[in-house]
Amino acid sequence: MRVQGKTVLVTGAGSGIGRAIALLFAVEGASVVASDISDNVVQTVEQIRAQGRQAAVVIGDVGDQSACNQMVNTALESFGGLHAVIHAAAISRKGTVTTMKEEDWLDILNVNLNSVFYLSKAAVPLLSREGGAILFIASQLGLVGTQDSIAYSAAKGAVVNMARSMALDHAQDGIRVNSLCPGPVDTPFLHASFLRQADPERARMLSLDKIPLGRFGTSQEIANAALFLASDEASFITGATLVADGGYTAR
Ligand SMILES: NC(=O)c1ccc[n+]([C@@H]2O[C@H](COP(=O)([O-])OP(=O)(O)OC[C@H]3O[C@@H](n4cnc5c(N)ncnc54)[C@H](O)[C@@H]3O)[C@@H](O)[C@H]2O)c1
Repeated sequence: MRVQGKTVLVTGAGSGIGRAIALLFAVEGASVVASDISDNVVQTVEQIRAQGRQAAVVIGDVGDQSACNQMVNTALESFGGLHAVIHAAAISRKGTVTTMKEEDWLDILNVNLNSVFYLSKAAVPLLSREGGAILFIASQLGLVGTQDSIAYSAAKGAVVNMARSMALDHAQDGIRVNSLCPGPVDTPFLHASFLRQADPERARMLSLDKIPLGRFGTSQEIANAALFLASDEASFITGATLVADGGYTAR
């Protein structure tokens, strides 16, 4: 019960890492507002309620300020406040600056970066009532370069530095802001990234080769790190970037 009595908003809670985070926080005693653009998030909420825990659902686009407002308002209306926001929703498409269409660039920047602004703008006033935590799920690709993924790596790099700057801006409000950078994690997102390549199996093997621990991470392993960072156990940690990538960036 490491987050007993807390309310947490999790975006991207319909799949992969976001779903694992929502389930873990519920098991550890939090009331969860689970949000996603996909109605898969209803399954996450049903799973939480089946365990006798509390959850509310919001289906909405994190790239839209009014939807982000609705996510935060749901926390207030359903559970009376908000103590932590964990932003896991994101998209990716391949492309270099020469091959990527402007439309794809703008979509990725909107969902992966503008959303950080929209969600934070909505959440900070409520979080500052009692103090709280914001955690952005960034990526190891926000720390090092990669090929053929220009918009995703640009957005994730910006998210990492935005967490640092927000940590400075909102320390006086009692809000801690951190980023968590997973490496390749076994989720539909990772599978889709291989399927975008000409030879998906080769892409999978090349990706595995870059991980010193020799395997992909699990959503549960990322959720464990998120629980630590967003709970009071990390009460002196703000502006930090925690890397959980099996050693990918250690080279
Ligand atoms: N899986 C990996 O290898 C990996 C590696 C590094 C970082 N990450 C990051 O982890 C986070 C979670 O990724 P995942 O692997 O669980 O992916 P996933 O595709 O399994 O889940 C992402 C969820 O975000 C939702 N989503 C997409 N666009 C949205 C929007 N506009 N509004 C609201 N929800 C939206 C999707 O519907 C989906 O349920 C992402 O931020 C991703 O960039 C993943």
